[in-house]
Amino acid sequence: MVTIQNQSIPVIVDTDGGVDDALALIMALNSPQLDLQAITVVAGNINVDQAANNVLRVVSIVQADTLPIVAKGCEKPLVKPPFNAAGIHGADGLGELDQFKEADGTPRYPHLTIAPSTEDAIALILKTAQKYGDRLTIIALGPLTNLATAIQKDSTTMKTIGQIIIMGGAVTVPGNISAAAEFNFFVDPDAAQVVMESGIPLTLVGLDVAMKAPLPRQMVEENLQQRPSKITQFILDCTGIYMAFYRDNEGFYGCYLHDPLAMAVAIDASLVKTESLHIVVETEGRFTTGMSLADRRDRRDEKTNPPNVEACLDVDTERFFKLFNQLV
Ligand code: BDR
Ligand code: CA
Repeated sequence: MVTIQNQSIPVIVDTDGGVDDALALIMALNSPQLDLQAITVVAGNINVDQAANNVLRVVSIVQADTLPIVAKGCEKPLVKPPFNAAGIHGADGLGELDQFKEADGTPRYPHLTIAPSTEDAIALILKTAQKYGDRLTIIALGPLTNLATAIQKDSTTMKTIGQIIIMGGAVTVPGNISAAAEFNFFVDPDAAQVVMESGIPLTLVGLDVAMKAPLPRQMVEENLQQRPSKITQFILDCTGIYMAFYRDNEGFYGCYLHDPLAMAVAIDASLVKTESLHIVVETEGRFTTGMSLADRRDRRDEKTNPPNVEACLDVDTERFFKLFNQLV
């Protein structure tokens, strides 16, 4: 297992612009270990235009020294109809930021004056893969439609990249959007399966570990009090609706840090324990669409079902939170 990188690694973050995506992007923009080449956007939590807008909002708040290119990709899953999570992340996918006003009544989050690149996300992914080859890591925080499309277009180039770290799936635990499936795999199971069988080195950061890292509302409030800034205010604001969902449905006032955990694994892989597994994604199940099915039998046939994924099954929560608080 690699630990924290001394040299920054070139990365692309592929995201569907939701609340936990935003927290992960803040980490990426603030992390000296990651050299953020591009942010590619996909439909998922919200439609791709709004998702791109949300990404630009985060970028404009963090104001990193060098701004990454933000490029839009697929508008809908490969086969299934679109399915979003506006009921969980808010109507804009980012906590309904329009509701927040400053003391003088002006909007705290005014209309953005920046726009996404005109470059297509898939072309950008392939161009960056050609440039960096096995040095490139892609961190996928949404449905895998963009990456599957890039693989379908040019699998030779995609196979040269170093790895994809995927927030998705649930290997040993139940799903979240259904009893069987995690949201990102549920939205585009066909894309997830294309990526699973791509032969690219994959690390899966699924619900097995994501649900071991709950962020309490209180910590977000304390961060704003102790370190008042545009970023800590934004985090309090954008997590309001998302955390209320967990309070009302999951019994704790806070949220899970799915996407930030995938980002943390890109920065420091020693935070998690992984198991090499053969995983397929159910694309047609009547009750199980999007389920990540790991062959965990002792008598698994290594020849027909060789491991295709390093699945994260445990996490050092304390060290993860230390890193998270350093970067957001
Ligand atoms: C995943 O689903 C999305 O709603 C979150 O942003 C995260 O990527 C968790 O299942
Ligand atoms: Ca996401």
